[in-house]
Amino acid sequence: MTLQKENILIVDDNYDMLELLHRNLKALNFHTYKASSVVEAIEILKLSSIDLLITDLQMPGINGIELIKYVQEHFPDIPKLVITGYPSVDSALAAVKSGALDYLAKPFTNEELKSTVQNLIAHKNKSGSVVEDVSSNKSLKTAAYAGIVGQSEEIIQLVDLISRVKDNRATVLIQGESGTGKELVARAIHFEGAFKTKPFVAVNCGAIPENLLESVLFGYVKGAFTGANETRGGYFQAANGGTIFLDEIGTAPLHVQVRLLRVLQEKEVSMVGSQKSEKIELRIIAATNNDLYEMSSKGTFREDLYYRLNVVNIETPSLRQRKKDIKLLAETFLTKYGSEYGKPQLVLSDKIMAVLMRHNWPGNVRELENVIQRMIIMSGKEIEMKDVPEYLKYAMPVERDELKTLKDVEKAHILKVLAAVDNNKTRAAEILQIDRKTLRQKIEEK
Ligand SMILES: Nc1ncnc2c1ncn2[C@@H]1O[C@H](COP(=O)(O)OP(=O)(O)OP(=O)(O)O)[C@@H](O)[C@H]1O
Ligand SMILES: [Mg+2]
Repeated sequence: MTLQKENILIVDDNYDMLELLHRNLKALNFHTYKASSVVEAIEILKLSSIDLLITDLQMPGINGIELIKYVQEHFPDIPKLVITGYPSVDSALAAVKSGALDYLAKPFTNEELKSTVQNLIAHKNKSGSVVEDVSSNKSLKTAAYAGIVGQSEEIIQLVDLISRVKDNRATVLIQGESGTGKELVARAIHFEGAFKTKPFVAVNCGAIPENLLESVLFGYVKGAFTGANETRGGYFQAANGGTIFLDEIGTAPLHVQVRLLRVLQEKEVSMVGSQKSEKIELRIIAATNNDLYEMSSKGTFREDLYYRLNVVNIETPSLRQRKKDIKLLAETFLTKYGSEYGKPQLVLSDKIMAVLMRHNWPGNVRELENVIQRMIIMSGKEIEMKDVPEYLKYAMPVERDELKTLKDVEKAHILKVLAAVDNNKTRAAEILQIDRKTLRQKIEEK
């Protein structure tokens, strides 16, 4: 099912409630923006086209009633749904008077949520406001959007999400397995969007030593630490006006997380060693292949930062989830690298395609891209079965006389995963869910 065209903004200071509403609405195929305070909510309202507001009433600082009044005044067409933990007639009545169209008292069932939301949206659409039909967007029908190749439902949804967020500055969190195109998506959001002429700065948080990350991101003033011989801006200052892409955000140490949270809350940065802060206006896109939700429940990632980053959530689908796209991707890479290596005539036989279709692709599109490149390099006039990497053939059904020992199968599987992640042992250990030491032992075993 494709996403509904409506965007729903959920406002609640209770993270569990925010998560629960998001999950339920996602299951109903709605796209959501999330805010944990009224200030954040107003920012999103200004930036994005919202079709329904769902808000809590009791929140610290500015409360939900104020938000409803604000929306009533500035966005009178947006229907409002109040979620209240205090089903007192008073607050509900006040909310209705100030312009809320409906309210739900906690606890409510998924069914109640569904019917209320659907009613409000049907009501809105009837009242004649123009809603852009994203699903009829022409670019969605094409097989490649900003380099994103695919025809599966998953890719159509992904491109739909990108087109919803590309022109606003809402913070985006991209989650997905390694090699699924997280960076590609981040670049698409920036370079297809309204701020494409402004800088795009990509920072791989995992590749920068922990003790340097803070000064690299936020800059430092002369004398801030030994070796700080001059004042120097960081990536945040460099990205001002455009987009900063924080890759592998799950690896950011806690002290950097605290600083990031402050940037997200205050929209200002201060250099390391300076008391002064300067306003910045940029879009933050963060990406990770860790489960930040789980990390936040274990305390290794700040929960408040997770929710600030996760205003819009984009999941890049694994290749095994969308096997339908393998052929198109394989052919795209064949054309691209075929001409690059001076072998534009190459084709993939049905038999080779069948091997590609059968494989599970733990390294996703990156693995497929590597495999195609390798086959082109190995091939003569044609790509033959002998050019197909050995580990891919392990996935083929084994003949009876080929039955192997558990150890052999284990070893073959380990080699397969290693090949898929370009021999990156840390990644391989993560995928196999064993530690690096065990992995090493298993590789060395005869
Ligand atoms: N849908 C797609 N269409 C075409 N190419 C893709 C697609 N998805 C990924 N790729 C290609 O696969 C490679 C890996 O993509 P990318 O670097 O964006 O993945 P990633 O999710 O950031 O991986 P990692 O977690 O390992 O950093 C790139 O060369 C990218 O161009
Ligand atoms: Mg990446």
